[in-house]
Amino acid sequence: MPGSADKSVRLSEAVRKEIDHWLTKFPADRRQSAVIAALTAVQEHGEGWLPVEQMDAVADYLGMPKIAVYEVASFYSLFHTEPVGRHKISVCNNISCMLCGGDEILAHIENTLGIKVGETTSDKRITLIREEECLAACCGAPMMAVDGHYHEHLTTEKVDAILEGLE
Ligand code: FES
Repeated sequence: MPGSADKSVRLSEAVRKEIDHWLTKFPADRRQSAVIAALTAVQEHGEGWLPVEQMDAVADYLGMPKIAVYEVASFYSLFHTEPVGRHKISVCNNISCMLCGGDEILAHIENTLGIKVGETTSDKRITLIREEECLAACCGAPMMAVDGHYHEHLTTEKVDAILEGLE
């Protein structure tokens, strides 16, 4: 994970307020139960990813070991522990999407953006995060998620329109 631990880095007021909201939903001695909500808040109020200093601040705030926060952040695919672009695209390529042209959709995105899976455009606009192992929208195959929103029954023309709409 990038960066180094720096105790001077604090959580913003907006992030603390959001974490505090979630903490009201759990017993007082179970602050760690809010870790997913806390990491989500850090990511959404920040630059779309989780610098290690911010994860350390979450660990301090919730009173849990730093390694436990890193484990959660690295386990769930919705969290990013490396810098990402302003928009994040995940293309499903499991069986239903693959049979319906998911490979072609992915290749079209790679060719259009000039990047491969795991890379970010040079203008930091878009990161092609990963190929997904089924996003549970098989009846809409082939599909992809853009910033968490599903786009289904994709064609290359639909993909072009979606990409052009991303600022
Ligand atoms: S295989 Fe693509 S959503 Fe299930």
